[in-house]
Amino acid sequence: MTAQLIDGKKISEQRLDAVSAAVAQRQAANLRRPCLAVVLVGNDPASAVYVRNKKRACEKVNFESRAYELPENTQEAELLNLIDEMNADNGVDGILVQLPLPKHIDSQKVLERILPHKDVDGFHPYNVGRLAVKMPLMRPCTPKGVMTLLAAYGVDVVGKKAVVVGASNIVGRPQALELLLARATVTICHSATQNLAEEVAAADIVVVGVGKPNFVKGAWIKPGAVVIDVGINRLDNGSLCGDVEFAAAKERAAMITPVPGGVGPMTIVTLLENTLQAAQIHDLD
Ligand code: GUN
Repeated sequence: MTAQLIDGKKISEQRLDAVSAAVAQRQAANLRRPCLAVVLVGNDPASAVYVRNKKRACEKVNFESRAYELPENTQEAELLNLIDEMNADNGVDGILVQLPLPKHIDSQKVLERILPHKDVDGFHPYNVGRLAVKMPLMRPCTPKGVMTLLAAYGVDVVGKKAVVVGASNIVGRPQALELLLARATVTICHSATQNLAEEVAAADIVVVGVGKPNFVKGAWIKPGAVVIDVGINRLDNGSLCGDVEFAAAKERAAMITPVPGGVGPMTIVTLLENTLQAAQIHDLD
């Protein structure tokens, strides 16, 4: 069997169109365009690319965007002050601080300073807690984008055995909460997991986000499983690959996401959807 490819690029483009249409409707109703503020501290090249992509995505859907590019030696107090200003600014709907931050800044303190209603990354413990108690508000973009993809391809999650490989705050943990909310039976695997191959082999749905090229072997995949690869790794030869051994996994899975063109484009459109949602909440203030 060769798996069906889950085309994140196509689904994300459909959803970008829907966000654009919602912006046009807001303008027709004399409501503001949604505004996303993105903060980048320091010179991490990958972060600079992500921030540029987020800015471009805002332009595509006619959002307002504000970019703050601060030097590496920015003090934590200055960053907290900027967040306080944006929290108080009625023109700003969503605030995103690109991670990782330089080591001298306490990231958790910074994330917790963002008003939960403006936390379009869904990283504030309030939003993580809301997801954990089945009352999601702002939902982390990558895991929510994965759920959107599963729904778009008609994957029924209820009662399925879902295995999440990786337990990070950005991907694995919120992904497990999303799958649980959707009523899967969820296992989270991490670096202390014993018999990872056996855990993965039992899964109807596997979501992998560990940041290690080809970490999950194709031979581990249960025939007919749905495989979602969140990893994007650049190899020495310059090519991109995921965290799953794609060629081998594709021969066993029923559906699989490619890298690139799978989860990546979904993360960014989900950020825009969250910003639109923040603007809608903001309208009611
Ligand atoms: N760094 C890597 N992924 C993310 C993300 O989704 N949001 C933010 N803010 N930083 C990141």
